[in-house]
Amino acid sequence: FSLKPFNTFGVEAKAKYFVEVNTVEKLLETLKHSNSQTLPLLFLGGGSNVLFTKDFEGLAIKLNLKGISEDFLNENEVLVTAKAGENWHEFVIFCLNKNYGGLENLSLIPGNVGTSPMQNIGAYGTEIKDIFVSCKVLNLETLEIEEFDIEKCRFGYRDSIFKQEGKGKYVILEVSFRLTRKNHKIKTEYGAIKSELENLGITNPTIQDVSKAVINIRQSKLPDPKKLGNAGSFFKNPTIPLAQFEDLKIKFENIQGYPNGNFVKVPAGWLIEQCGWKGKQIGNVASHQLQSLVIINATGNASGKEIYDFSSLIIDSVKEKFGIELEREVNIL
Ligand code: EPU
Repeated sequence: FSLKPFNTFGVEAKAKYFVEVNTVEKLLETLKHSNSQTLPLLFLGGGSNVLFTKDFEGLAIKLNLKGISEDFLNENEVLVTAKAGENWHEFVIFCLNKNYGGLENLSLIPGNVGTSPMQNIGAYGTEIKDIFVSCKVLNLETLEIEEFDIEKCRFGYRDSIFKQEGKGKYVILEVSFRLTRKNHKIKTEYGAIKSELENLGITNPTIQDVSKAVINIRQSKLPDPKKLGNAGSFFKNPTIPLAQFEDLKIKFENIQGYPNGNFVKVPAGWLIEQCGWKGKQIGNVASHQLQSLVIINATGNASGKEIYDFSSLIIDSVKEKFGIELEREVNIL
């Protein structure tokens, strides 16, 4: 069974078995049946943060749970719950159309609601941990449904329990967010948003304006996976000790960094560009010409292995030039 339609890189890989589930009952039934066969399982969401480097000798399960519900908490807040299979951006637009605030900075992020907590998706000054309340998960060992609150999720930068101890142990079924109904907290500190709003001539932005600005910025430099296979940022922005940053600053005076206590977060895109990778293509794979942190399937014919090898070359050269080891953000399978 081809997994090509289920990964935004658009690489070819095969799963031995495949099933699509629309309800939790169907999911449970599938798991009870497959458990007896001790088959490896692979859960597919939006496919926007995964790189298949080989075929999968197990059962791939496409999670297609749909539905959004709303609960007014008080005059100012609403709890919105979306099932895992809802497309993230469509969910953001649904909320903006109802004038629910909190998700606008996260407009146009590829993927589904169900995978958003895995890596605590974030962009332009917001991470989902800022509005997250809880998620319902299926424990794959007990086949019981459990609720994870924000503490239990242990969110970090592009990180959560689901990428650490909880890896492979749970399936996220639905996610609840606390959003504002009025007195929205408009977040425009991120430089790119500020200047885009200026371009648009907007001085007193609504949440819809912020969303519009974010959409414009993303469309101007992030390739649309429907047209050019990619999985967004391929690497995390590395965090290095302040002392190391200061040493680097002597040698590379243009190096940028966002200080955080005794550490500094350095934009990986800048490091990669400095190593000469921006827009560079090897075979079917390239670093995007407008944002070098994004690796693209340039010809549409790249294999997962080729993309992986390309990313290793980038890691090696950044390591050699700056002594910084980049970490992949994308899940490698
Ligand atoms: N930069 C370069 N060269 C490049 C790319 C970036 O010099 O080729 C510099 C930019 O000039 C800028 C800085 O690096 O000064 C940061 O760039 P940008 O604002 O594009 O953000 P980023 O740090 O590269 C992160 C997220 C993105 C998110 C944006 C906006 C990570 C790994 N990536 O990218 O997330 O959209 O900030 O908030 O944290 C994703 O996770 O898939 C993703 C796209």
